[in-house]
Amino acid sequence: MATLEEIFPPFGLAIRCGPVELRVLRDEDIPGLVDVVALGVVDPQLPTPFPEAWHELPYDPENPDAFPATSLKWWWSQRAVFGRDQWRLVLVVRAEGEIVGVQDLSAERFPLTRSITTGSWLGLAHQRKGTGTLMRQAVVGFAFDHLGALECHSAYIDGNAASAAVSRKTGYQPNGRRRIAQAGQRGVDEIAVRVTPDTYIRPEHPIQIRGLEPFKRFMGIED
Ligand SMILES: CC(C)(COP(=O)(O)OP(=O)(O)OC[C@H]1O[C@@H](n2cnc3c(N)ncnc32)[C@H](O)[C@@H]1OP(=O)(O)O)[C@@H](O)C(=O)NCCC(=O)NCCS
Repeated sequence: MATLEEIFPPFGLAIRCGPVELRVLRDEDIPGLVDVVALGVVDPQLPTPFPEAWHELPYDPENPDAFPATSLKWWWSQRAVFGRDQWRLVLVVRAEGEIVGVQDLSAERFPLTRSITTGSWLGLAHQRKGTGTLMRQAVVGFAFDHLGALECHSAYIDGNAASAAVSRKTGYQPNGRRRIAQAGQRGVDEIAVRVTPDTYIRPEHPIQIRGLEPFKRFMGIED
């Protein structure tokens, strides 16, 4: 019988950088991830960093419109987007083996655009320890060195000092700003940033990849 990794190569992908490891979300990761969200993702003193305040929904597993079902819908919808024209990876981040957050990676028509977009969050207890910087430097290095990406994009809401710092420490440059309607209620400035191989700042640890070749074949990525 084939293994799950052989059936679906993204499950075989593992990106390691020092104490941090990123792997595509599996259902057995969900209890750990739900725990991390339930313990808090955003310092209540700081402005909401996401377009939607998904992390503030009440915990009620009996209600499909409450957390965690709302997050499950999102994670499973991301899982269903895979193909050579478009893919989205929800990468579960572990630090020293413990689930601490998520790093998203997505691309459209990657073999032609060689362009990737990222987004991320960590549980409050796991912030300000260098993990946010390391996981972003790791996926950008993976994109440039192993997938042949030519640029990576990200964006943060104006005032999100932590996200701005992670982008700066990974070598992203400002790439414009636009107004968005946050949670459908508030107009805020979103700042776009872009990093290229020329400006990329590498992590202090080597980036090690497992399951690369089956993943590239599956996504139609050639050298
Ligand atoms: C953004 C996030 C992933 C950063 O991860 P992190 O592990 O906390 O960041 P790091 O520890 O690697 O710190 C990176 C830099 O940000 C700075 N920083 C971290 N939190 C900060 C805060 N609340 N205010 C100001 N600076 C902060 C650190 O001082 C560090 O800069 P330095 O090395 O110059 O001192 C994390 O804070 C998070 O998940 N926040 C909530 C969700 C979020 O904002 N996601 C991003 C949406 S665009």
